[in-house]
Amino acid sequence: MKNTTENSGATREKGRREFLKKAWKILGVVAVAEFVFFFVSLLKPSKELKKSKPGSTVRIIGNIEEFLPGTVTPDRINKLYILRDSEGGFLALSLICPHLGCSVLWDETKKQFDCPCHSSAFDSYGVVLSSPAPRPLDYFPVILEEGKVKVDVSQKAKRRKFETSQMTYAI
Ligand code: FES
Repeated sequence: MKNTTENSGATREKGRREFLKKAWKILGVVAVAEFVFFFVSLLKPSKELKKSKPGSTVRIIGNIEEFLPGTVTPDRINKLYILRDSEGGFLALSLICPHLGCSVLWDETKKQFDCPCHSSAFDSYGVVLSSPAPRPLDYFPVILEEGKVKVDVSQKAKRRKFETSQMTYAI
């Protein structure tokens, strides 16, 4: 009689262990699936980038109303600054100093771009205020459509001076 009870207890214990093993296996598979899903979602382009045509060099920087007149907004991803001047015009400026390629920084107090490497300075339109920079900051065409500010990052242009034709205005 004792043997039968011991056998039935051992069988139940064995069954419980097998159940726990299976449960752990299932939990492990679920955890791995979540991990894979998380990394795949990181690799997917953002909703904003999805709206750009595949292979397009036109980047959506933001909504027009996010850029207040009289402001300079950095976009580190695309290595540029967006100037919206007091008249509402847009200009996208490269943050690469035309002297030796350091990144210029916008100084909100002085309202100018400063290069930390050799002290060149540029006004809010990218025009040289102090050398050794040999020319203004390069600029990119700005496209305003569907309420968005877009920049074609493949069209970086050099210039000798600022001209109003470099600005883009909402129609
Ligand atoms: S790299 Fe900017 S001043 Fe030299």
